[in-house]
Amino acid sequence: MWRGPPGRVGLFRRSAHTYDPAMADPTITIEPISGVLGAEIGGVDLAGDLSDGTIAAIRAALVERHVVFFRDQELSPEAHMAFGRRFGELDTHPFVEGNATHPEVLDVITEPDDRANFGGGWHIDVTFLPEPDMASILYALEVPPAGGDTLFADLHTAYDTLSDTMKEMLDGLVCVHSAGPQYGAGGYSTKSKAMATRNEIESHNEVRHPLVRTHPESGRKGLYANPAFTTGIDGLRRDESRALLEFLYRHATHERFTCRFRWRPGSLAMWDNRSVMHHALFDYVGQRRVMRRITVKGDRPV
Ligand code: SIN
Repeated sequence: MWRGPPGRVGLFRRSAHTYDPAMADPTITIEPISGVLGAEIGGVDLAGDLSDGTIAAIRAALVERHVVFFRDQELSPEAHMAFGRRFGELDTHPFVEGNATHPEVLDVITEPDDRANFGGGWHIDVTFLPEPDMASILYALEVPPAGGDTLFADLHTAYDTLSDTMKEMLDGLVCVHSAGPQYGAGGYSTKSKAMATRNEIESHNEVRHPLVRTHPESGRKGLYANPAFTTGIDGLRRDESRALLEFLYRHATHERFTCRFRWRPGSLAMWDNRSVMHHALFDYVGQRRVMRRITVKGDRPV
């Protein structure tokens, strides 16, 4: 386990993009869960009165490890939202109905008779928005006895490990994103009974983002496309776009760029949508899974 005091050979000192969470709060513990991304943070009660130093430490760990996990938290919706607001303004989902009392909260529910789950495929959250959410914070209330894990893939390491020639080709390309494939006719909304969605014509609006985006805090470049919402690449033929994107998705989701989180009630994951894709596995058909999600607004990708 990696702990606070200065002078350690730190996890977060291995590259030019170095952060030092423990300088901000030496009481927390940060344990990486795979080679390139993911860390479990201990010693924090997220419902408590968190100091600026603790928030800075969590933020630094998030930027460095791209997704952070906490165990055994007791969070009311209000406490969950208060934690999220320490990182920025909360967003509401444009197509999925939020909680009746707290519209910023999505009750992410799979019922035993559902045949699809929310987030059940590799995606980056809401890339169909001009300013997609920077972070998502998911809290587990009820999970199946086995299954329902979430996978995460590191889009920076995926980019870094491409050849220089491929990087040159990708830099400057622009992707088209739309909510249509998921929230239009035939999308997720028509298959789930548990979550109410609004199928609106706006779901087919297109936005454009760079295929390679630079993280505004770490300065690292990363791939920024996803199978759920990216519909093509400007200037390429449809079959060319599809072939290139399929290659990039296969590359980005290689096992060595991923980590997998096993949920328990009271677990919380916070991921950086500027750095990862994620995938909610649906391997628990016939069982119930109840989560609560909030998202923090982000900036226009550059
Ligand atoms: C999501 O994509 O936000 C849902 C992830 C999950 O339920 O594991």
